[in-house]
Amino acid sequence: MAKAQKAYVCGDCGASTTKWQGQCPSCAAWNSLEPRVIEASRPAAGVPEATVQLLSAVGGETVPRIRTGLSELDRALGGGLVQGSAVLIGGDPGIGKSTLLLQAAARLETGRTTLYASGEESLQQVSLRGHRLGLPLEKVSAIATTRVEDVLAAVEQTRPGCVIVDSIQTMVTDMLPSAPGSPNQLRSCASLLVRLAKQTGITVVLVGHVTKDGQIAGPRLLEHMVDVVLYFESEVASRFRILRAVKNRFGAANELGIFVMTEGGIREVKNPSALFVSQRADPVPGSVVTAVHQGSRPLLVEVQALADQGGGSPPRRVAIGLEQNRLTLLLAVMHRHAGISTHASDVFVNVVGGVRIAEPAADLAALLATISSVRDRSLPRDLVVFGEVGLAGEVRPVAYGEERLREAAKVGFHRALVPRANQPRQPIAGIETIAVDCLQDVMRVLPALQASAG
Ligand code: TYD
Ligand code: MG
Repeated sequence: MAKAQKAYVCGDCGASTTKWQGQCPSCAAWNSLEPRVIEASRPAAGVPEATVQLLSAVGGETVPRIRTGLSELDRALGGGLVQGSAVLIGGDPGIGKSTLLLQAAARLETGRTTLYASGEESLQQVSLRGHRLGLPLEKVSAIATTRVEDVLAAVEQTRPGCVIVDSIQTMVTDMLPSAPGSPNQLRSCASLLVRLAKQTGITVVLVGHVTKDGQIAGPRLLEHMVDVVLYFESEVASRFRILRAVKNRFGAANELGIFVMTEGGIREVKNPSALFVSQRADPVPGSVVTAVHQGSRPLLVEVQALADQGGGSPPRRVAIGLEQNRLTLLLAVMHRHAGISTHASDVFVNVVGGVRIAEPAADLAALLATISSVRDRSLPRDLVVFGEVGLAGEVRPVAYGEERLREAAKVGFHRALVPRANQPRQPIAGIETIAVDCLQDVMRVLPALQASAG
């Protein structure tokens, strides 16, 4: 491997020098130069380092994937770990990152060992956890260190199929004097490990803590350096965990993996739709179930709204799990095309279970939940609603309409309010669809639906 070099980079203008100086020679800022590890030494001038090839001649029809033994983790990764890729898994301390990765390490199908580099826990602690979870540890080698050079040496020595670095914030490189976790250390250690992945074809998984205050030294800094970024999240005090892909060079970026934390480690949730729909017997005002399509699967989630009269001036609009601007827009459309005003009410909308909806397919559900709360009339429990709402009050079709309906039927919904173009050609067993073109249509069918909810 080529040798890395040290340079001093100006934090203001980005210029680099080989010697430290009090003032940047480029932009004249004072005390802005910081040490940084830079790219390896260049070959002699004129000697090409890379070759040109026709893309058609470059193999790449399929990327080899390594299964992790956890299908929900494979799903979030887009079908398993890609060989030679760099993956970042971020999350709050204590959420279960180490547990998840030790479980994956024990079952990775690389055909070689997996190296677990722990900068936070001793080897005894890691091993104890592995034994307590009953994991097969024959193929997991481990090293407790905070020096990235130790990790690189261990890789050289054991030639693993995958390296897990837990956590990147604890790692330091000898080339820099700064403390572990500082932005410079973080970037330099990560770049050494990412380079390892690219040069050797060993998959590198980095664990990163999300710092609640000051994201500055958090995993965000590393997002652009790696191929895949997953965040491990949960609702406060919930046993359920959502592994969300926010970046994936080899798959869908909005994929979700859903897990539950148990005494015996992390388990996959096989039927997640039932999870995000509250299990009440009686319908309540302000609650509507929608079918979203996240990554490669449909998911049923409950949208709740509360319109509280006597709101301040200006009234508050709070959206959790939905875009705030989207809610403001929907309230304006509702006022204009359905004649329902919320200008004197605070409106809160929440998506149950910590799911974040990034598609407009939930518009109609958010709107109906708000109307339901304003009028204090509930909608039937067996109704699912989806569709995009336009500024002209039209209800627009969404992609994957049939998949959404099938999922709803599977979970036990009997009625669906859908955009007309999403009405299936062949009826879907167990679910009756009510098609609408615009908000006026919705208002027309609403009384009957409310009456059937009791
Ligand atoms: P951990 O994987 O150490 O979290 P992280 O690496 O993200 O900081 O998990 C810590 C929490 O998980 C801890 O509070 C205990 C809990 N836990 C379980 O509930 N069941 C288990 O089997 C294990 C190993 C941990
Ligand atoms: Mg940990």
